[in-house]
Amino acid sequence: SAHFSPYDHMNLYLQKYVPFNLQFTLYLKEVVFVIQSQRNSFHAQQAEIRRTSLLEQAESLGQSPPAVLLLHSLSDNEGDWSILPLMPHLSSLFGKNSSWIVFLEEETSVQVAKLLQVLDHFDRRKEWFLGKPLHDEESTIIHHYAFAENPSIFKYPDFTASWALSIPLVNRLTNKVKNEPLKSDFTIDLKHEIALYIWENGRGPQLTAVPELCTLPQDAPGAERCATTLGRHLPSCGKPVQKEDVFVAVKTCRKFHADRVPVVKRTWEKQALLLEYYSDFADPTIPTVNLGVPNTDRGHCGKTFAILERYVSDAVPKTNWLLIVDDDTLISLPRLQALLGCYDPKEPVCLGERYGYGLSQGGYSYITGGGGMVFSHEAVLRILRSGCKCYSNDAPDDMVLGMCLNALKVPVTHSPLFHQARPEDYSRDFLSHQIPISFHKHWNIDPIAVFHKWLRDDGESTGPQNDFKEEL
Ligand SMILES: *[C@@H]1O[C@H](CO)[C@@H](O)[C@H](O)[C@H]1NC(C)=O
Repeated sequence: SAHFSPYDHMNLYLQKYVPFNLQFTLYLKEVVFVIQSQRNSFHAQQAEIRRTSLLEQAESLGQSPPAVLLLHSLSDNEGDWSILPLMPHLSSLFGKNSSWIVFLEEETSVQVAKLLQVLDHFDRRKEWFLGKPLHDEESTIIHHYAFAENPSIFKYPDFTASWALSIPLVNRLTNKVKNEPLKSDFTIDLKHEIALYIWENGRGPQLTAVPELCTLPQDAPGAERCATTLGRHLPSCGKPVQKEDVFVAVKTCRKFHADRVPVVKRTWEKQALLLEYYSDFADPTIPTVNLGVPNTDRGHCGKTFAILERYVSDAVPKTNWLLIVDDDTLISLPRLQALLGCYDPKEPVCLGERYGYGLSQGGYSYITGGGGMVFSHEAVLRILRSGCKCYSNDAPDDMVLGMCLNALKVPVTHSPLFHQARPEDYSRDFLSHQIPISFHKHWNIDPIAVFHKWLRDDGESTGPQNDFKEEL
C-alpha cells in the first residue's frame, strides 16, 4: 500500500465499509478544525497544506466544508498558542452551531471520514475531552512534580494524534477562562496544563482515550484503524545547512570547567566546526573566552548579550545561524542542521522549545535556554539594534530575549524536538515518535549514556575535530 495516497486509502475504506448512500449522523460542517499553526513562514505553509487536505477530503466526501482555522492567524495575541485564552473566541463563533472542536498539529494526517465515524460514537450534548493519552513514568519538574505518589495516574493528550473538545465543554471552559485566571504564570508543557485545567481536580472530565487517534506513521502496521496518523518525524526540507553555517556558543563558568565541559568534549563538540566556550575565566586548555562579564548563579543575561555582540562582530566568522547552549545541554548538531534546512535565514528566526510567561494576561513567549536557543543572523541583528537590554546581569537570559522579541513582534518558533529537561522527564510514548535534537541537565543521569542513546546517529564521525576550529 506504500504507493497509495491518503485519498486512495479513504476511497478504499469508503467502498468497503460505508453503505451506498453515505450517512453520518454527524456532519462534517459541525466539526471545527483548529490547526496549531505557527507564524514563521515555513510553519504557516505546512499548516496551509494541512488545511487544503482537510478541505479536499470534505469535497470528495460530498459534504459542506468544515471551518479549518489556523491558530496563528486568529488574532494578534501572541499567547493564542496556549489555546485556553482562545476559548471565548471559539465559543462565540461556534458555541451554538457546531458539535466538536478538533485540534491538530501541522504534521497530523487526518482521515476525515474515519474521524467523523469516531466522533459519532460520543454523545455531542455531553462534555468530552478526547485524545491519545500520555502519562508520566516518574514525577517530573516540567509538570511541577504533579501526582508524585502515582505519576502514571494522570492522562494528558499527545497533541500530534489530535485531540477534541465537545462544544458543551468549550462553552463551559469559556466561562471558567473568563472568571478564573490560570494558577501558574508559566506555560511549560501545554498538553499537561490543559488537561489539568479541564480536569479541575475531578470537577471536569478526564481525557477519554480514543484508540483511533494515533501517532503511527501512515504506512505502519496497525495504522489501518487510525483516524489520525503522523505525517513525518523530522520535517524533510531538502539539504541540511552546512556546518560552516552554524556558530555554536556554549555558556559555562569556572566552576564547571572540570566536570561539564569534558562531557561536551566527549559527546557533541566534535560535530561542530565553529564553537566557542564562554566563561568568566579564560582557560587556555579548553579554551574558554572570558567575556568580561562576572559569573552569576542564576540567569545569564549579561553573558548572553555579550555573546550576541561578539557573534555579529568581526571576532568570529559570519554565519547564518547562532546556537546558544548551556554547558550541560546535550545536542545533536547533524539533526539541528537538517531541521534548519526548513527555515529561511533571511527572516528573523528564533527556534527552540517554547515556554510562555503570563500568556493569559498579555505576557510573552520565549525559547527556554537549556534546550538550546537558535537564532538566525537577522534575528540577532534585530535584537541588538532594538536596544533591548538586560535589566541586570543575572536576569534570566531566555526570558529577557523573549520580552525583546515580543516587543519586536518577531515570533518565537517552537520545535518539540528541543528539550529543557532530561529524557526521563518526558512521557516515553511522546518521545517514541520523535527524533530528538536536544536534552538538558545532568542530574541523576549519565549524560554520556543519554547522548549515545538519544542523540547519536549511527555512522556519525567520531574522528578528530576539524582543523578549521583551530583557526578560530
Ligand atoms: C457557525 O458560525 C460561524 C460563525 O458565524 C460560521 O463561520 C460557521 O460556518 C457556522 N457553522 C455552521 C455549521 O453553520
